[in-house]
Amino acid sequence: MTDLQMIENALYGYIPRGNHKEQTLIDSMEYSMRAGGKRIRPQLVLEFSRICGGNDDAALPFGCALEMIHTYSLIHDDLPCMDDDDMRRGKPSNHKVFGEDTALLAGDALQSLAFEVASAPETIALCGADKACACINTLASCCGTLGMVGGQVIDLANEKKTATYDEIYACDEKKTGGLIIAACKMGAIVGGADEKKIRMAEKYGKCIGIAFQVVDDILDVTSTDEELGKPVGSDMENNKSTYVSLLGVEKCREMVQNLTAEAIDALSAFDGDTAPLRELALKLAKRKK
Ligand code: IPE
Ligand code: IPE
Ligand code: MG
Ligand code: MG
Ligand code: MG
Repeated sequence: MTDLQMIENALYGYIPRGNHKEQTLIDSMEYSMRAGGKRIRPQLVLEFSRICGGNDDAALPFGCALEMIHTYSLIHDDLPCMDDDDMRRGKPSNHKVFGEDTALLAGDALQSLAFEVASAPETIALCGADKACACINTLASCCGTLGMVGGQVIDLANEKKTATYDEIYACDEKKTGGLIIAACKMGAIVGGADEKKIRMAEKYGKCIGIAFQVVDDILDVTSTDEELGKPVGSDMENNKSTYVSLLGVEKCREMVQNLTAEAIDALSAFDGDTAPLRELALKLAKRKK
């Protein structure tokens, strides 16, 4: 079984089954969970757990929880009150199929499901209460007020002005870095890393997280709807300040190279086989979708 199959099997296993009055809500959650996506956040949880000596079974629930939070963030990000985008992962956005009310609630419910999964007795049995608690705390802080949600607020504020380099940095570090940092950190925690390694996992996550958003902003001006599976030109239409609007595509490509090199440097703190994480960083820098 490939990692992708392992991640998706586990993820879909958490979708509530049976006869429920809330079936439309569950359908809406399942629609976005099954719509595809690269699953890079759960992959990072697995890889960091592996280089710290952890096992996949213990890491997987945290990867799934994070993918649920990520999926919720995308459903809300596409709503008319946010980026107002009609396509996601090659399909109509959640609110285009289920309506804004259900899409909003599907996002809320995915967030709750994430914490239900991360704190489940079955999860704790695999990694112990101390590691589970540390992962849950990391997840909550990286996705909340001073993490992804905070970054989304800064992103919207940046639509109303020409943001500075530092303002864009704060936005990208949180809105996208938040969940990617959570992935690397949770993987390190569940794998049994010491404080120094956890800090270096965070450093790698921050560098590839910011690089990931810069690549996303480049693709927003250089790709096509078909290739990307979401509408290109969305940032310009929303008058968003990004590194691409501030510095241009060429400077941004350089930035991605530098951040990727910095991320790879951080891997020297680990004794395990770091090749997969080095290759992942390089692959993400060159990605076309
Ligand atoms: C999209 O994330 C949102 C950003 C943080 C730029 P991904 O590019 O990881 O989206 P999927 O999961 O592959 O659809
Ligand atoms: C979104 O950034 C980051 C999130 C927290 C969802 P974007 O708004 O650029 O992501 P896309 O391009 O819609 O995937
Ligand atoms: Mg957005
Ligand atoms: Mg968007
Ligand atoms: Mg984008």
